[in-house]
Amino acid sequence: MTNDAAKFRGSIPVNYDRYLGPHIFDGYADDLARRVAALNPRSVLELAAGTGILSRKLRDALAKQCELIASDLNPPMLEVAKAKFRSGESVRFRETDATNLAFDDGSFDLIVCQFGVMFFPDKHRSYSEAHRVLRSGGSYLFNVWDSWERNPFARAVHQTVESFFPGNPPGFYKVPFGYHDAREIEESLSQAGFSRVSIERVAVDSLIPSPRDFAQGLVFGNPLYDEVVTRGGDPQEVCAAVATAIDRELGSELHLQALVVHAARN
Ligand SMILES: C[S@@+](CC[C@H](N)C(=O)[O-])C[C@H]1O[C@@H](n2cnc3c(N)ncnc32)[C@H](O)[C@@H]1O
Repeated sequence: MTNDAAKFRGSIPVNYDRYLGPHIFDGYADDLARRVAALNPRSVLELAAGTGILSRKLRDALAKQCELIASDLNPPMLEVAKAKFRSGESVRFRETDATNLAFDDGSFDLIVCQFGVMFFPDKHRSYSEAHRVLRSGGSYLFNVWDSWERNPFARAVHQTVESFFPGNPPGFYKVPFGYHDAREIEESLSQAGFSRVSIERVAVDSLIPSPRDFAQGLVFGNPLYDEVVTRGGDPQEVCAAVATAIDRELGSELHLQALVVHAARN
């Protein structure tokens, strides 16, 4: 994986939040926020919080006195997240690399991460870091996308974009949809010291009110945009082709599937 897949900046955060959020992230954020609140933690660290889609729902679901820190590698993503909170709401934002956490050992009851782990270049190190900053008895909850077969929109985008650059196709969509082997995830977490790991496949159905809007998020709302521009492509042209492919192959229904992982620290 190239580090370029983790560069969410420029106009990407706004397009991500506006056009991808409602289509593919909101439903899973509801699911994770519910799971986190059910554990009634006193302190929560969110990794790869991005534009705060989950952070907002966490703050609404958690007890008022629960401490919440929303962190991400890319400050431009956190700038969009900050705008979702009123002054006086208890949430802190931190620029932090999930593979090198800027927190003391045993700082948190719970760590949560929505669709971020796939981007961490050294997953084992990220698991060890999560284990280190969790208190004894704490939990790490995160989700990752299942395969393209279970998320057909992703394959439709990749194949469409590939047709523009047959000799040198952008690889971005292989990253978020390339880490879904439950056994591998469980083994890595165990090696990092987690004692109990449970992994559940969770399907979410969503709607596509406008293929054009969804395509705007799929092309302009993540680092694929930079890959298209670097190759001399026209993102508007690619976006129009993606909208056509989405409409043709998916219609108005969006079927999504993810793995939801709960790892416990002794
Ligand atoms: C698909 S977005 C998910 C954002 C958010 N959790 C959500 O559900 O909308 C992936 C996020 O991972 C962040 N990211 C990538 N590599 C990271 C790293 N090494 N450490 C922390 N965050 C990282 C990106 O900046 C981006 O915000």
